[in-house]
Amino acid sequence: MSSIVLGVSGGVAAYKAALLLRAFTEAGHDVRVVPTPGALHFVGAATFEALSGNPVTTDVWSDVPEVAHVRIGQNADLVVVAPATADLLARAAIGRADDLLTATLLTASCPVVFVPAMHTEMWLHPATQENVATLRRRGAVVLPPAVGRLTGPDSGPGRLPEPADIAALAGVVLEHGAGALAHDLSGRRVVISAGGTREPLDPVRYLGNRSSGKQGWALARVAAARGAEVVLVAANVEVPAPFGVRVVPVGTAEELRTAMHAEAKEADVVVMSAAVADFRPATEAATKLKKGSAAEPTAVPLARNPDVLVELVAERAPGRLVVGFAAETGDDEGDVLTHARAKLARKGCDLLVVNDVSAGQVFGRPDNAVVVLGADGSVTDVPHGGKDAVAAGIWAAISTRLGASRGTD
Ligand code: CTP
Repeated sequence: MSSIVLGVSGGVAAYKAALLLRAFTEAGHDVRVVPTPGALHFVGAATFEALSGNPVTTDVWSDVPEVAHVRIGQNADLVVVAPATADLLARAAIGRADDLLTATLLTASCPVVFVPAMHTEMWLHPATQENVATLRRRGAVVLPPAVGRLTGPDSGPGRLPEPADIAALAGVVLEHGAGALAHDLSGRRVVISAGGTREPLDPVRYLGNRSSGKQGWALARVAAARGAEVVLVAANVEVPAPFGVRVVPVGTAEELRTAMHAEAKEADVVVMSAAVADFRPATEAATKLKKGSAAEPTAVPLARNPDVLVELVAERAPGRLVVGFAAETGDDEGDVLTHARAKLARKGCDLLVVNDVSAGQVFGRPDNAVVVLGADGSVTDVPHGGKDAVAAGIWAAISTRLGASRGTD
């Protein structure tokens, strides 16, 4: 159980802080909510007290013997400010201590995550952008706001990301520190495939696979948090898009191939995490195959699908990184890493994210979930963790390689 301070500043998105608080307490954390006086115009202290089980104060004059303005920050493992208004970001950047939340920010030595929410004009104003840059330079995580419907009829960047996205990313920072969400992909365009393709047999049946798309979703969420422009080519995944991510839905391997070729044109990084069917039924019946009919099949002839990863490698522009995924097991012919190195060479990609799927074996070390192999011979262990934490480890490996290739462009 960790000790989280949830700072809430005065924007209409403060109502979502109650859901975020709920997500933190359900994950077993002890949460102390510190609203600004403005936040209490939107959500009452009673809501935060009931959901957190802790007292809620906004100023430094309450609970004076507790020295709350010092203790709350000192005792925290993580501070998350959601929503962070333009005014809160400005006060934090200057180092003001004019309410309990800003005083807490000055006494906290743990990682701090700001989740901005405001009108687009306020977000894009140079004053706000400079404040954000200042906070990032000092080591804080400032998530980019989501794009979408704002209060009133307006739409644009400035929305608070969904509480589930914030909770997942806060969990990564809690586990691995603020560096796990470094703002190092700003100006980069990233295209990720996720999910599993379905290959139709007739209008109602298909050959599919069990891929949930969760790892691809986490990769997209973390890339967006690290500042990238993200496109997610999603094969049959029915969950809402992570914040700041454009989703291109596809069904079959052929549709995924077309979408990836189109989206990858301007990409700096292409990640093929989708489970693409190697085979499809050789013919797709135009009408349902009925049992007992003349068309009842006794076998399903298969045709080979193109290898999209190999094609994306072949058309790779200079400086673009292409990342493949591989699920491997060891066998008589070699261990997991031997097979993975052979696959990396065969596919020709720059990096290969390797999952050991043999029962109970994780590359000889129980705390490893994936290994990222580089065509340059590099080997990066990504420690065992949730899908977002693993995604952060994968992005760290990609970012290192991206920095190295930018240097040689
Ligand atoms: N992949 C692809 N197109 C396909 C099949 C796979 O782009 N038709 C991509 C996957 O998205 C993944 C990588 O290739 O990034 C590895 O997939 P895998 O199925 O492990 O590779 P295969 O070549 O099918 O290897 P194996 O012989 O082990 O089945």
